[in-house]
Amino acid sequence: MLDQTLRPSVLFSDAQHTCWCFHDLAHAGVDSNQYVIVHAGRAALLDPGGDLSFKRLLQALGEHIDMAQLDYLLASHQDPDIITSLPRWLLHSRAQVFIPAIWERFLPHLVSDIISDHLKVSVEARITPLPDAGARLDLGGAQILVLPAHFLHSPGNFSYYDTHARILFSGDIGAATEVDSLQVVEDFQAHEPALRFFHQRYMASNRAARRWVAMVRQLDVQIIAPQHGPCFVGPAMVEEFLCWFEDLPMGVDNIDDFSYALPPP
Ligand SMILES: [Fe+2]
Ligand SMILES: [Fe+2]
Repeated sequence: MLDQTLRPSVLFSDAQHTCWCFHDLAHAGVDSNQYVIVHAGRAALLDPGGDLSFKRLLQALGEHIDMAQLDYLLASHQDPDIITSLPRWLLHSRAQVFIPAIWERFLPHLVSDIISDHLKVSVEARITPLPDAGARLDLGGAQILVLPAHFLHSPGNFSYYDTHARILFSGDIGAATEVDSLQVVEDFQAHEPALRFFHQRYMASNRAARRWVAMVRQLDVQIIAPQHGPCFVGPAMVEEFLCWFEDLPMGVDNIDDFSYALPPP
């Protein structure tokens, strides 16, 4: 019997297509959302997370899909809360791992010789590097756009857009690390304080934010689904977030707030 706390939220569902959000699976560290897209029986898991949540995610996911259906693990970037469960997924699934190209050669550091010896193919063969310009992926006939989000926050970073559900899986963009993921953002101004520090400190530059927002505005986005915290639901709330993000000074824009002096003796 499935623990009630392992039940995902349904972000979208029709006869062919479902998007789930699994949340609150880690008992320590920063809580994160794991998203799953299923189309015509084929599945993609986005930002699968770390060791902390792997066992509970595998159990929860197993209630909805067979591991043989899992074709893709889509990583927005290389962080510990994004992809450090890699060796376990390599063992427990046949999924191909997609990651920004500049991080591809670092991922094998997560996989011990003991794990490698149990794999049918090399670790390198299970990893597909995504070029800086992004890509279009086919999932059971549905298209997923891989959208450049470089420097937001990682130097090699992607968002993923589900063209069928019209959901933008934004990685750390829009993340609120201290807010319950079960909610949606009802009042942007009330939610803004939970966004501010994370985006000012973890994102690299407002120049990158403006470029990303201009690209996103070319899409019909019904939901922005970040890796931490609640989703932004509906075009009006999506636009409210985009307007805030494109005007926010962040990262090197605030460089004068950092001393770069030698530490005191
Ligand atoms: Fe991150
Ligand atoms: Fe994150």
